Amino acid sequence: MRQRRRAGSSCSAMEMSTQGENLRLRREIGLISAVSLIAGTMIGSGIFMSPEWVLHYTGSLAGSLLIWAACGLLAMFGALSYAELGTLIKESGGDYIYILRNFGSLPAFLFAYTSVIVVRPAGVAAISLSFAEYAVAPFYPGCSSPQSAVKCTAAACILFLAIINCLSVRLATAIMNLFTFAKLLALLVIVVGGVVLLVNGQTQSFQNAFQNTNAGIGSIGVAFYQGLWSYDGWNNLNFVTEELQKPEVNLPRAVMIAIPLVTCLYLLVNVSYFAAMTPTELLSSGAVAISWGNKVLGSWMWLISLSVAVSSLGSANGTLFTGGRTCYIAAREGHMPDVLSMAHVQRLTPSPALIFTSAVALIMIIPGSFSSIVNFFSFTAWIFYGMTITCLLYLKIKKPELPRSYKVPILIPIIVLMASFYLVLAPIIDQPQIEFLYVILFILSGVLVYFPLIRYRCHCRFLQRLTLHLQLLLEVAPIEKNV
Ligand code: ARG
Repeated sequence: MRQRRRAGSSCSAMEMSTQGENLRLRREIGLISAVSLIAGTMIGSGIFMSPEWVLHYTGSLAGSLLIWAACGLLAMFGALSYAELGTLIKESGGDYIYILRNFGSLPAFLFAYTSVIVVRPAGVAAISLSFAEYAVAPFYPGCSSPQSAVKCTAAACILFLAIINCLSVRLATAIMNLFTFAKLLALLVIVVGGVVLLVNGQTQSFQNAFQNTNAGIGSIGVAFYQGLWSYDGWNNLNFVTEELQKPEVNLPRAVMIAIPLVTCLYLLVNVSYFAAMTPTELLSSGAVAISWGNKVLGSWMWLISLSVAVSSLGSANGTLFTGGRTCYIAAREGHMPDVLSMAHVQRLTPSPALIFTSAVALIMIIPGSFSSIVNFFSFTAWIFYGMTITCLLYLKIKKPELPRSYKVPILIPIIVLMASFYLVLAPIIDQPQIEFLYVILFILSGVLVYFPLIRYRCHCRFLQRLTLHLQLLLEVAPIEKNV
């Protein structure tokens, strides 16, 4: 859908909005960009770090490969369910908009509040920190890198991505495509290395593959958390449906290409790690991809550090891209300050929302570490995935007559819903940690914000004036839905 722009578009943002100009985000995401938005966000730092943890919690090679396969299947089932939701509710905003349209304002606000203030910026911060770890490491051979260098590099990474994303949607998607291609290549190098090792008879790890398997309910739940971090991002396309060309066709299609591709690669990469290292070596490796590089690539090992850095940067880009959109859509629905729902009048990027998400991510870098952020990411994410899947089940049962261009068999969302119950409850029951309680308290604290600020709209004049000033400063104006 083309955006209608009057001649003389140099008038100020304010004028634009008062003249009723129809500003819209363009549909710039085609099938290839859609696939790379999904695969490019999914493949981040996880596959280079989590295999060790999945093995740690499952105890055996076979157990860990099973978890990786099950995570892939779960991501696929989840994404297929979201694809039906995306063809039913054509607005951008992913989980937020589905919860809003089905369960109403308060639950949707709680999602937006948690997602915009914590989950999305935390995702950007965690991935940027892993980018920084690997980007800085070559400058400190033989010793661990100083935290200040890591954090400054992570901050530079966030600033760089924020600028790119504010400048142009096309530039941001081009970077995404390029980086996705680069990381697919890097994973292929690891796969091919593994095949060479296996052909040369390095199969010791695969004997007695089930030995020491740990089938405890809680530890399997935590193993899933680690694996699912690597797969997270499977629902990313639903956040930008309004910018996707022919969403009714491209949404299910992109899911069906990207997720099996990533799952196969992840499984093969794990096989390759096991071909190069025994489970005991893998458990003590620290950064599994680096140990793999050391053993297999020798002096070409830097290639792995580079790949992890590129891969993380690409994934952070995808997370910021969609994180900014969540904030912007929530603001458009009145759940965030108005200025966050505006877009730059010429560049047509939702720059205030992108700047806000990046700023929160920058703050999180200061106290945060990669592992502390990841641990509670999956827990929080799966509470809301469960809620969104409930929306789909509700629509399937109550409104079967609504037109849908893609239908998922009802068993699939039921499985995902059961998995989300398991994922949220098993670790709490098995290894209760106070942090899980903090997450729940934070989500509920949204209720205290909701009633005065959203429901009863107690806005001060100061906020209105600030909005006007920011609008002029950032050259942004309200924009129309693209449905
Ligand atoms: N799967 C990515 C990784 O392995 C993390 C994705 C973060 N989540 C998101 N929705 N963008 O690093």
